[in-house]
Amino acid sequence: MKKHAPEREPFIEVEDLTKVYGEEPYAVHALKGVSLAIHRGEFLAIMGPSGSGKSTFMHLLGCLDHPTSGKYWLDGNEISEASANERADLRNRMIGFVFQTFNLLSRTSALENVMMPIGYSADSGTESERRQRASELLTRVGLGDRMDHEPSQLSGGQQQRVAIARALINRPQFLLADEPTGNLDSRSSVEILRMFEELNREQGITILLVTHDPGVAEHAKRIIRIRDGVIGSDGAASAASAAAGDGAATGTGGSA
Ligand SMILES: Nc1ncnc2c1ncn2[C@@H]1O[C@H](COP(=O)(O)OP(=O)(O)OP(=O)(O)O)[C@@H](O)[C@H]1O
Ligand SMILES: [Mg+2]
Repeated sequence: MKKHAPEREPFIEVEDLTKVYGEEPYAVHALKGVSLAIHRGEFLAIMGPSGSGKSTFMHLLGCLDHPTSGKYWLDGNEISEASANERADLRNRMIGFVFQTFNLLSRTSALENVMMPIGYSADSGTESERRQRASELLTRVGLGDRMDHEPSQLSGGQQQRVAIARALINRPQFLLADEPTGNLDSRSSVEILRMFEELNREQGITILLVTHDPGVAEHAKRIIRIRDGVIGSDGAASAASAAAGDGAATGTGGSA
């Protein structure tokens, strides 16, 4: 994998990134040339109507998929030319994921769920150190008294907190969350968003959150709007919400 002077570069840089699913004449051009730089410690929200390419973009940034064309540098590593193994290695070392549907293993305790991604990382320590770290993380997300509970015995907000602890187990520098509050009531949503703000502020974790809810996006410092596979606007959260008067016209409400 190519590397170039990381200290001079943004943490994340994408250049004319495209993603085409399938083959002509049925091809779907999900991303049509996205260029963007993200610095360490940023907290961004990606907004846009359903089908605009938000999850596609997140999958590319999260090294879960590779672009059809364009460049992607993560911490100086050129991901667009990396092999699937190299992508998996970077993903496990650097990135944590949180999804709308929590994606926890059923009939598996909260503690075991949090420990699950550890196996893939090289310096994961002894079994007891791993348990210790998982239980510290569960305590940190307020579930110190729920470690042995299985997902079905937890509320949605509690399940999402388990998922956040799991996302943090390998000490990621980059946290990606796709509609993390989409299945939560407003009180649990606020709790989860405060947790993200704290992780960003206190640990400097770079956070990218996908949402079509303007109230959720306001917790971010920078808002990027995607429309039909291209970036429509990119700016500070306050400026972006002030400019959202045309939200209905641009479909920011989420229904394409
Ligand atoms: N695996 C796939 N195969 C084919 N087409 C896909 C695939 N994944 C996404 N698409 C298409 O790519 C486009 C962008 O999808 P994407 O999931 O990125 O949208 P989104 O902005 O996340 O939407 P939503 O808000 O509904 O989650 C859509 O037209 C979608 O149908
Ligand atoms: Mg999506």
